[in-house]
Amino acid sequence: MSRVTVMGTGYVGLITGVCLAEIGHSVTCIDIAPEKIEQLRRGISPIFEPGLTDLIEENLRSGNLWFTNKPEEAIPQSEFIFIAVGTPQREDGSADLTYIQQAAKTIGAHLSILNTVIVTKSTVPVGTNGKIEEWIKDSLHATIPFDVVSNPEFLREGSAIQDTFQADRIVIGSENEESAQRVAALYEPMNIPIFNTNRESAELIKYASNAFLATKISFINEIANLSEKLGADISDVAYGMGLDHRIGTAFLKAGLGYGGSCFPKDTNALVQIAGGVDHRFELLESVIKVNQQQPLKLLNKAVQHFGSLQGKETAILGLAFKPNTDDMREAASITLIEHLLAAGAKVRAYDPIAAGHAQKIFGDRIEYSGSIEECLHQADMAFIATEWEEIKLLPLSIYQKQMKHPVIFDGRNCYSLAEAERHQIDYYSIGRKTSTFIRK
Ligand code: UDX
Repeated sequence: MSRVTVMGTGYVGLITGVCLAEIGHSVTCIDIAPEKIEQLRRGISPIFEPGLTDLIEENLRSGNLWFTNKPEEAIPQSEFIFIAVGTPQREDGSADLTYIQQAAKTIGAHLSILNTVIVTKSTVPVGTNGKIEEWIKDSLHATIPFDVVSNPEFLREGSAIQDTFQADRIVIGSENEESAQRVAALYEPMNIPIFNTNRESAELIKYASNAFLATKISFINEIANLSEKLGADISDVAYGMGLDHRIGTAFLKAGLGYGGSCFPKDTNALVQIAGGVDHRFELLESVIKVNQQQPLKLLNKAVQHFGSLQGKETAILGLAFKPNTDDMREAASITLIEHLLAAGAKVRAYDPIAAGHAQKIFGDRIEYSGSIEECLHQADMAFIATEWEEIKLLPLSIYQKQMKHPVIFDGRNCYSLAEAERHQIDYYSIGRKTSTFIRK
């Protein structure tokens, strides 16, 4: 059992802290926001993540998990300090390291036991761990040996706990063998393959992994756009490609493009990182561009169908950037809704849990429905933006019953074309044929 401090109780910090507590370590999570700490002490999670509240409660009860906003209560006794603060995107696309620097200075100011290992979980540009080391050194009061290790995080929102306990790999970036071994030992109960490398490689593995997955998505979306023109069906094309184990079926689902807190931010940051060493990452620039344009492709189908969207009652089903999260960051629904509003459409939206966050973005420019039926009632058109289970499983008869004449623009390919045809619905999706029935 080790004494661990985790700085930052955002997605990565909170999941890391709770999971390390779950395998028996004594973990204190620090955050600068006092109200967040107050809530967490009472077992209330500030984020929606399946299974997280139970784990917080369990570990608070067992005494493995603590929350504080006072670094002096945790850092001086810790053998490991995880940095898991945010690295938001600056206007030019690069990562803002303000919180990282603050965390490093706080660590330096309170470090007191020898050989504490500082573990960087936050996604940081290549070379940042070296800077963290300098920032800590600059704020130390005495000469205290410590080490900084890179240990990037690969969890997904909505399955973060499962991803942590069943990860494909744990990447540890350090040239100091002893520190690397100590970090590996911390994770030992999880029984996950460990890959050791140097700090720069570990930092780059994180960006390269996210950029590669984003590339897969933009690639399949372009193949989908092509499929529409060539009479192919993207579901079959993606499946047929994925049967080749060198390609694999994962991350080949065509749709409205990728969103969330990582892919958009990290792809932009990698373009900036490349630019910083005089390398133009043109492939990734194209991936980003394809992603920005993808929601507009579906919108154009609506414009073509109706001529004008002025005054059209529009139902948006799903707002979150993907199912099982209330996260709206960089959600494709935002691009879609902003363009619909600009075109004069009247928008109302339904999401099982993300409406609160959506309200902060759209305010009263759109309406919010309490159920799918209410959202679809008397609508001229419906857009499916997030493939929540209840949206995917919604019988097409509900659209027929609720809408004026059912016209669906499905950004997540939830229905089969045969089903749409059977219900005589005007059905537009991504990378597949269109079924149109209605008088325009
Ligand atoms: C991602 C990475 O998967 C994770 O390893 C990293 O640590 C953080 O970023 P996350 O953002 O939680 O995780 O979501 P993910 O499930 O990867 O989906 C990202 C976006 O891609 C979503 O908007 C999703 O709808 C989209 N997506 C995913 C597709 O459009 N098609 C696919 O085939 C897969």
